[in-house]
Formats: sequence, structure tokens, C-alpha cells
Amino acid sequence: MQTSDQARGALSKPEMYRNLCNQLSELLRGELDFLANAANTVALIYRSVPDINWAGFYFKRDQDLVLGPFQGAPACTRIRIGEGVCGRAAATGETVVVEDVSKFEGHIVCDPASQSEIVVPVLNWGHLFGVLDVDSTTLGRFDEDDQDGLEALIAIFLSAQKTDDLPDFEQLARRAQA
Ligand code: SME
Repeated sequence: MQTSDQARGALSKPEMYRNLCNQLSELLRGELDFLANAANTVALIYRSVPDINWAGFYFKRDQDLVLGPFQGAPACTRIRIGEGVCGRAAATGETVVVEDVSKFEGHIVCDPASQSEIVVPVLNWGHLFGVLDVDSTTLGRFDEDDQDGLEALIAIFLSAQKTDDLPDFEQLARRAQA
């Protein structure tokens, strides 16, 4: 999926993300299944964004975030909202960029090779649906261009399926416990 320009590093970051947005729109076109779209979204990010070692979704279930489709090393399954970088983004509804994970109090280690991280909340008209987490083995890997680019990709992911089709995980969790 990576273009030769991207491989050569000839594109600026905003250009690379613009290309990725176009690719993602094409990839998700005509498919309404949220799980298939979530899986393809992280696969595209993982294969195309340089210098990352993990990319995946966590979805909200009650007061937890539960691991969804991802690429990279096996990861922690459940994160309490408010805890770790993912939990912070979920609690505040804002993207969190961490230059050095060792300096983020409460950072949850999944892959010890990860040095920096960005977590983008997945908000459907203000309703928290989950987060997208991307890790890198390079310190200070993520900047405002990555934030803008990943937020744009998440907006495309959200608009690809009818919002009514997004599963109500909280309801599913309640049913499972009943
Ligand atoms: N580091 C994250 C946990 C998830 S993994 O990086 C895949 C956090 O602190 O929330």
C-alpha cells in the first residue's frame, strides 16, 4: 500500500496523510461493517505511516477501554478510562501526544520497545466510542502534523459507516453480564 514516494520519504507529512486519507476513503467505500472498517483502518496506518511499531483501536465498554483490531505486538486487553495514555485521551476527549512515554505518569507498558505515543479519541458527535493508539520506538516521533493526519483518518473511519450501525458496546456488555 505504501507508494514509492512515501518509501523514499519524498512526501511531506501533510502530503503523506492527505494521500492516506484518499486511500482510506477508497478502502472503506461501500462497506458499512464497522469491524471490517476498523481492521482495515489500522492495517493501512500500520503499513503506511513510517517509524511506528503498533497501531490499534481500544473501544469503550462501561468504564473500560477494551482492545480492538490492531497491528503489532500483543497488547494489554483492558484499560480503565482515566488510566494510561489511552485512558487520558478517553477521559478528556482530546488527542494526547507523548514525546517520551517514560515521563508520562501512569503510562501503561505493552511493548517495552515503545518510546513515544499518540492517542486520538474516537468521538461520534461527542459520544466516546473508543481511541486510536499509535506507538513508535523513536522518542518524540509524533507532532502536530501526525495529530492532524490521524484525526482526519479517524473522521473518515467514522463517516464510512452509518452512525446507527456503530455497536453500542455498553449495552452489549450489560447484556453479557445479565
Ligand atoms: N501505552 C498505552 C497502553 C496501550 S499500548 O501502548 C498498546 C497507555 O498507556 O494507555
